[in-house]
Amino acid sequence: MNDPQAHQAVMRDEALAALAPRPDGIYVDATYGRGGHADALLARLTDDARLWLVDRDPQAIALARERHGDDPRCRIVQANFANLGEHLRAAGLAGRIAGILLDLGVSSPQLDQAERGFSFLREGPLDMRMDNGGGETAAQWLERVDAATLIRVLKEYGEERYARRIAAAIGRARDDSALPQTTTGLAGLIAAAVPRPEPGRHPATRSFQAIRIQLNDELDSLSTLLDDVIDLLAPQGRLVVISFHSLEDRRVKRFMTRNSQVGELPPGAGVVPPEKRPSLRRVGRAHRPSDEEVRVNTRARSATMRVAERLP
Ligand SMILES: C[S@@+](CC[C@H](N)C(=O)[O-])C[C@H]1O[C@@H](n2cnc3c(N)ncnc32)[C@H](O)[C@@H]1O
Repeated sequence: MNDPQAHQAVMRDEALAALAPRPDGIYVDATYGRGGHADALLARLTDDARLWLVDRDPQAIALARERHGDDPRCRIVQANFANLGEHLRAAGLAGRIAGILLDLGVSSPQLDQAERGFSFLREGPLDMRMDNGGGETAAQWLERVDAATLIRVLKEYGEERYARRIAAAIGRARDDSALPQTTTGLAGLIAAAVPRPEPGRHPATRSFQAIRIQLNDELDSLSTLLDDVIDLLAPQGRLVVISFHSLEDRRVKRFMTRNSQVGELPPGAGVVPPEKRPSLRRVGRAHRPSDEEVRVNTRARSATMRVAERLP
């Protein structure tokens, strides 16, 4: 893809079908990105509908304002989706949302723009913040993180088997006041610390993913929203989540499984009391992109979509 602003929405038609939009419903695209899913959804909504467009990235929000600022159906909010409940409650919309879409991770422009610092293939500042209007950059975090935390992050969020070696190399560079300040500099340091790289994978892939997840608090943001989402959805409202690695998908799967089962009952209990009834119904199993989609958009290859519906 040559246009640094372009992003091909992953599983767009499947996500739309999963949302099964009511033409006059209230929807939330909690990860606007470059608006591929939002555009498709807007095309299905009448003037009576509402669509909240949310992203924590200021560039994504600037684009949403430019494209949808005049659309009376749209409400555009720059926020971490962990705080979605707060925004929807303030607008009196808790329990009224017909569908929430989460298309997790980073967008192609975030990866492709060297100055955002997400890509080990493009020389840029070691930044990696989705909301680059504030907070700590990856360079600042690496400058202060203790070895045990760094090893844990690389292991847990990157499933990196050489976490200790990489952390030691970063520690040595820091002691020598030579910690790389660029993406390619850090990628080089990591590559030199990895004795046996996985075939077909850059040795810095796992570490970059881990540092990005840590810096942007990605897993806790997802868990916080999941904890709140049942209260936000209207009866029959749908949650559609597209995730790109097993750490996210596992959380989504567990959440959907847990909430679609009857709670534990005391022995001999005949009737299921209301508080033990499931609050969600799973809609289908995990959905994967078609071979054709993966062929034209390699970023779709690790996508998994899960769908659940709020029970009345
Ligand atoms: C894969 S892209 C979404 C692409 C979008 N569906 C499209 O079709 O263009 C993910 C987007 O989610 C945003 N994002 C990731 N985590 C977020 C969070 N916790 N809160 C808000 N936005 C988040 C990123 O900034 C990025 O723009």
